Amino acid sequence: MAITLAFDVYGTLIDTHGVVIALEKHAGNMAPAFSRIWREKQLEYSFRRGLMQNYENFAVCTRNALDYACSYLKLALGEQDREALMAAYKRLPAFDDVEAGLAQAKNAGFKLFAFSNGSAEAVETLLDHAGIRNYFSGVVSTDEMKSYKPNPGVYSHFLRRAGASGVDTWLISSNPFDVIGAISAGMRAAWIKRSSEALFDPWGIEPTLTMSSLLHLAEQVKQQCKPI
Ligand code: 2OP
Repeated sequence: MAITLAFDVYGTLIDTHGVVIALEKHAGNMAPAFSRIWREKQLEYSFRRGLMQNYENFAVCTRNALDYACSYLKLALGEQDREALMAAYKRLPAFDDVEAGLAQAKNAGFKLFAFSNGSAEAVETLLDHAGIRNYFSGVVSTDEMKSYKPNPGVYSHFLRRAGASGVDTWLISSNPFDVIGAISAGMRAAWIKRSSEALFDPWGIEPTLTMSSLLHLAEQVKQQCKPI
């Protein structure tokens, strides 16, 4: 069976901190902190909505988290500015290594999907804007399950949608919670540790592979999949 690679989107292919430039106008040198709080709250809200079974799509988590970050940093941004920041979130940049890493993975014969908490429409727009949509056979969104990562059901949903099996499928993610979620659900997973400071949760569940960028992904996955 062909090897399937499920690429996480926000934080793995697409740099959520690309919004810092748009934030500088409002937050000055607090822009990096704003971006971090915004992202952390967005994820927290997705986890909580998943647990509470009170689903609203990821853009709602993003917007609620933006409002929280403004209150936390005591920044009185008007509705127009908030909408402009939400619009900037739809056009975030890809990390520098992404295009070359995807091209190598595609040339190696792997089947590539984008797999995200973001709605299919939001992900299609992001990938198009970053010029990388053509590398993917499809986009699978957890929105189709009205739930979020790391609910095990969303990883099973991915496998059904991709027509793939857990042993032949790798999640590729920079988000440790996503890597742990995929491995717990029976997939393999590569952790993309772009910063030497990044920490992996000490749960006793380790990534199948860890690498600092997507540039060695194809070669390392191939190596792991060789018959013994
Ligand atoms: C994604 O699903 C977890 O935000 C991350 O794209």
